[in-house]
Amino acid sequence: MQYEDNREFAVALDRRDPLARFRQQFNFPRDRDGRAPVYFCGNSLGLQPKLAVDYVQQELKHWQDYAVEGHFHSERPWITYHQLATAGFASLTGAEPGEVVAMNTLTVNLHLLMASFYRPDARRRKIVIEAGAFPSDQYAAASQIRLHGHDPETDLLEWRPRAGETTLRTEDLAALLEREGESVALLLLPGVQYFTGQVLDMAAICELGRQHGCKVGLDLAHAIGNVALSLSDWAPDFACWCTYKYLNAGPGAIGGVFVHRQHRSPDDFLHGWWGNKQSSRFRMGPTFEPAEGAEAWQMSNPPILSLAPVVASLEIFAAAGFDQLRAKSDSLTAYLRWLVKHRHSDRIDTLTPDDARGCQLSFIVKNPQADNPRRLFDDLSKLNVIGDWREPDVIRMAPVPLYNSFEDVFEFAERLTTALDG
Ligand SMILES: Cc1ncc(COP(=O)(O)O)c(C=O)c1O
Repeated sequence: MQYEDNREFAVALDRRDPLARFRQQFNFPRDRDGRAPVYFCGNSLGLQPKLAVDYVQQELKHWQDYAVEGHFHSERPWITYHQLATAGFASLTGAEPGEVVAMNTLTVNLHLLMASFYRPDARRRKIVIEAGAFPSDQYAAASQIRLHGHDPETDLLEWRPRAGETTLRTEDLAALLEREGESVALLLLPGVQYFTGQVLDMAAICELGRQHGCKVGLDLAHAIGNVALSLSDWAPDFACWCTYKYLNAGPGAIGGVFVHRQHRSPDDFLHGWWGNKQSSRFRMGPTFEPAEGAEAWQMSNPPILSLAPVVASLEIFAAAGFDQLRAKSDSLTAYLRWLVKHRHSDRIDTLTPDDARGCQLSFIVKNPQADNPRRLFDDLSKLNVIGDWREPDVIRMAPVPLYNSFEDVFEFAERLTTALDG
C-alpha cells in the first residue's frame, strides 16, 4: 500500500475498516492530561471489554441469587462454565476442542505441563529456551532442572541470536539440536518473543523437536489472539497462554492450555478432582477417572469470576473473526512502522523483523548518547502514550486491531515527533 503521512489518510482508512465498530465495545483508561490516550499496550494488558463487566456482574448476581445451587441451576452452571471457553480457545489456537482447557495461570501451567513433559533421564535431561526468555519461563525451566537433581548451568541451553543480530534464526536452533539434540528432553519456546516481538516459526520448531526426539512446549502468552496458530497440525506436546494481553480478560485472568491429543495416559499428569470425569466426580470415590482430553489436566474447580471475562472476550473474537483481525493488525503495524521510518529513520530503529511480526513493534533509539531512550519513553508517557518499557532500552508499542484505529497510529507518530523534537 502507498502510505501517506497525514491525518486525513488515517481517518480514511478508519472509515473503510470493517472492524471499526468494535472500538466502542471497550473501556479506555481515563485521560491524564485532557487528551485521549494512545493505548498501545495490549501486549501487556488488553483493554476492558464492556461485555466482561456484564459477564462478571451476571456471575456475582447468580452467586447472590443461587448460592451453592449456582453450580447446577443458574443460567450458566458453574460446573461446566470452563467449557464456555473451549470453542474460542480451540479456534484461536487451531486445536481440537478436546485439546484445550481454561485453567490456572501461565507460570503455574508451565510447571504443571513440565511435570508431565519434562521427565529427564540419564541420556536426555536438557531444556532449550531462547536467550533473553521472559524471566518467569527462565526461572520455571531452571527450577525444574534443579528439582530433578540437575544443574541449569549445564542443562539449560539457550538458542541465541548471532553476534551483532537481535533476532533468532531457525537454522541456528537446528544447528544447536544437531550438536546437542540427543541430550535434550524439552524445547520450551515462545510463539512470539516478548522483547523483540519476533514471531517464531512454530511449525519448524515442532518439526525439529520431533526429528530430535525432544518434547516441545510453546509459551503462547504473546501469540494467542495476535497471530494465526495451528497447534493440532504443528503438534507440540503442549502449549499454554495467559489471557490478559491480546485476549483482554483482565489482570491475572485464568489462562489456557493445549495438550496434544496423543497424550492421554493418566500416569503422565497430576490429578485433582476437577480432572475427574464430570459423571463420576461427585461420587467422591478414591479412584481417579480422567475426563476426556485436556480437561483431565484440570485440578481445582475454576475461579468463575476470573473466567467470565475470558468468555466475554472470546465471544468478541468470534464476532470479529480472526482473519479480519489479523489483516487489520498487519495494516496497523505496517503503517506504524512506515510512519516511524518515514519521519525518524535517522533516530529510531525497529527490532521486530518486518516479515515475522504480530501487533507489537519494539523500538530502540539509534544513538543513545543523543536520544536517551528512557527519557524518550517518559516523554511519550507525559504525552499520554501508553506503551511499555523493557530494560535496558526497548520501547514496545502494540496497536491492537479490536480497539485501535489508524488515527491512533497517526496520533502516536505526532506525539513521538513532539517527544523527539521537544
Ligand atoms: C512470555 C511470558 N511468560 C510468562 C509470563 C508470566 O505470566 P503469569 O504471571 O501469568 O504466570 C508472562 C507475563 O507477561 C509472559 O509474557
